[in-house]
Amino acid sequence: MVDDTIVPAERFGPDFLQDPHSTYSRLRREAPVQRVVLPAGLQAWVVTRYEDVRAALANPGLRKDFRRYPDLFARNTMRNQPGFVHPALVAHMLNMDPPDHVRLRKLVTKAFTLRRIEAMRPRIEEITTDLLDAMAGEERVDLVEAFAFPLPITVICEMIGMPAEDLDGFRSWCNTLISGGEPDEVQHAADATKAYLLELIAKKREEPVEDLFGALVHAREDGDQLTETELVSMVFLLLVAGHETTVSLIASGVLSLLRNPEQFAELRADRSLLPGAIEEFLRYEGPLNMATFRYTNEPTEIGGVEIPADEFVMLALTSANRDEEQFPEPDTLDLRRDTTGHMAFGHGIHYCLGAPLARMEAEIAFNHLLDRFDHIELAATTEGLRWREGVVIRSLEALPVRIG
Ligand code: HEM
Repeated sequence: MVDDTIVPAERFGPDFLQDPHSTYSRLRREAPVQRVVLPAGLQAWVVTRYEDVRAALANPGLRKDFRRYPDLFARNTMRNQPGFVHPALVAHMLNMDPPDHVRLRKLVTKAFTLRRIEAMRPRIEEITTDLLDAMAGEERVDLVEAFAFPLPITVICEMIGMPAEDLDGFRSWCNTLISGGEPDEVQHAADATKAYLLELIAKKREEPVEDLFGALVHAREDGDQLTETELVSMVFLLLVAGHETTVSLIASGVLSLLRNPEQFAELRADRSLLPGAIEEFLRYEGPLNMATFRYTNEPTEIGGVEIPADEFVMLALTSANRDEEQFPEPDTLDLRRDTTGHMAFGHGIHYCLGAPLARMEAEIAFNHLLDRFDHIELAATTEGLRWREGVVIRSLEALPVRIG
């Protein structure tokens, strides 16, 4: 039965962000396509069943280009997600629909190739080793701060070809843009990021460079190439998409293992389980928190419910990945489970471009972590662990562990 009374904002408040799974489980059973009000007053439809989310992600009537809804965004919540709305940073393919999306994705795919990702492997191993070396002698560390956070940001900044001496300044602007702050600070960080990237583009245009940014600057398809705004936005997308999500995968994966010691022991005993384990971490506690957003371009039927035109739709990947119809005993972590079809990386035309890089980073991170420490133990109670309060990314604030 579909309940069409609106679910109030409280259900999506701080408690929901700490534990989205119980709300989602109830919605899947009782109201799988449900109108809701989110905390800052944004009204949306939330879709929670696997089949419905998958069909919606493949439905061309559901759109991404939020620039058609400027008033909605000005009024609403996205102040939490400043990078989402700054005009200099949003002209990227995750915010576009065909044909613009097709054009941008083709150009970017030319630069972000499997070969380029694979070529990063030795460097990722090195960065990982350095981070673990820095923990040597410590008994207690925060694995988010010491390991999960610095690894992906260093990798993506190096892939982009940012000079090492610029990394710290750039990382601090990115942090403000991703995590939010005072409006003045955010504006300053956005202006500084844009100015910095434009300068870098000018340099990369002058000389043929081998890095990803250089390849993006020079990428051509049928005489077409990325404009400066598109380049700046694209690099910003790579930084945001390639950074927070992977932090979350590494940290949540370690936590899942710590909470399931028998499976942790099995993984230690048989490292060939690791690739499957990473897929299970993605299914079980995926980095996208609430959902990915779409807009209805026209009245659209989802799961037997007709949604009018011009509505927000939240496709709850986290929920779909725990749908009992698709994954038996979904709330159990099972490293040997068949996770085929999980949607932590999305589905359809916007399917994550960085999935192979994320998988490689996670594999290297877990392999080195297990090689280095025979003993890893949680140094916090369940109540002591907090998930960050962003609507988009589900990520631990900290993961205190004892190591040895
Ligand atoms: C898109 C998840 C890592 C780059 C997406 C989408 C998801 C996702 C769910 C689709 C969003 C939608 O349909 O609205 C993840 C997860 C990651 C991860 C869970 C890590 C565990 C990365 C990395 C990069 C990256 C490392 C690149 C460095 C992108 C890009 C898109 C995207 C460029 C947009 C694709 C398009 O619009 O066609 N990601 N991502 N992601 N991701 Fe990832």
